[in-house]
Amino acid sequence: MNLETQTTGTREKTRIFMTGDCEGLQELRHALERHHEVEFVGAATSLGEAAPALRGGHLGVVLHGTRSSTLPQGELAAIREHTQAPVILLASGEASNLLEEALEADVADVLLLPQMTENLIFAIRKAGHSGRRLQGGGGRRGRIVTVFSPKGGTGKTVLASNTAASVAKDEAKKALLLDLDLQFGDAAIMLGIEPEKTIYDLVVAPGELDTEKLAGYVTRHASGLDILPAPLRPEDAELVTEAKLAQLLEVARESYDVIVVDTSPFFHGPMLATLDRTDELLLICSLDVPTLKNVRLALQTLELLSFPTDRISLVLNRANSKVGMKPGEVESALEVKVRFSVPSDRAVPIAVNRGNPAVLADSRADFSKAVREISKSVVPVDKGDGKSGRRLFRKAA
Ligand SMILES: Nc1ncnc2c1ncn2[C@@H]1O[C@H](COP(=O)(O)OP(=O)(O)OP(=O)(O)O)[C@@H](O)[C@H]1O
Ligand SMILES: [Mg+2]
Repeated sequence: MNLETQTTGTREKTRIFMTGDCEGLQELRHALERHHEVEFVGAATSLGEAAPALRGGHLGVVLHGTRSSTLPQGELAAIREHTQAPVILLASGEASNLLEEALEADVADVLLLPQMTENLIFAIRKAGHSGRRLQGGGGRRGRIVTVFSPKGGTGKTVLASNTAASVAKDEAKKALLLDLDLQFGDAAIMLGIEPEKTIYDLVVAPGELDTEKLAGYVTRHASGLDILPAPLRPEDAELVTEAKLAQLLEVARESYDVIVVDTSPFFHGPMLATLDRTDELLLICSLDVPTLKNVRLALQTLELLSFPTDRISLVLNRANSKVGMKPGEVESALEVKVRFSVPSDRAVPIAVNRGNPAVLADSRADFSKAVREISKSVVPVDKGDGKSGRRLFRKAA
């Protein structure tokens, strides 16, 4: 199971990952692997190897064993590159210098081994609680909804632009459509917009990126949706680096309720930075064998990247096409339930050619009804305390 925490009785299980090494760490690992109050996700001695598992914002706590007798600044920085989860430092009994230094550092706790397992469990629960409190606090924290398919022409841009337009218009939420099909993006064309500024202009502009600067580079659509289009020339794509994009997404989260990301059919650097921050991945499939084969490969790759499976929603586009393959066959081949079925509808190409999303141009079309179901499910739920939370989904089996 891939939830950040799992409920056991009245108490929440904390997802933990173990990095580094020190005396006594392996004994502790064996005890934690069996303990009912934590979900032991895995361990890696080298921080390089740990990187994929640390990403994705799904961990409750990171336990890091160190052999350093002073504060291991470099090791902590390497962990922070991938996760904001609270870190508990573990060291052998002799490294007592660490305790003083750690008071000033970005660590939740320091424990000198050996320790009783229950002491560590208490420290994990405490760190997990404070981490969740910090993540839940603060201002707006938009949801990142990434629309991906490992095959071209499956309907990524149509679904991304219509979902984003529906979030803005039908759900009345602040929405941004980000075109990450960096070389040949056509999200702006589908919205009938000729943008003056693109993501390229934003990333090459001097100075720090903040919410005000982002607002100066987006283009407003009549539906209320903002769009940050792809670069106008394919050769400008490479300037949109992983680091720039990571920063852009963090800033966008402060300004928007939902950020819908359109993509190209590749796992390139900027896409990986996006996946690390994705709350929901709409994985688009269609009723044809090559797409099915590639979606299957994509699911395997996502697993290797430790992308939480409960954040993946399988979308079957053109689900009603009579092409000798049934939706049930897709589900059996992928071993994943289809969460959203979108029909093939002539309203779509008509709308594409007019540069106006079908969900706005023809709101009664079957396609538009299916898109509204998607947009309703991706908006954050107001928990009534001013903060937004994740809508609970029926889990795909
Ligand atoms: N549900 C649908 N009904 C009818 N036509 C559709 C539907 N979905 C997509 N199309 C058509 O398929 C074409 C390709 O869709 P789209 O451009 O969204 O694919 P894509 O996955 O973004 O492709 P690329 O990988 O080239 O970016 C669109 O021009 C649209 O007219
Ligand atoms: Mg596209």
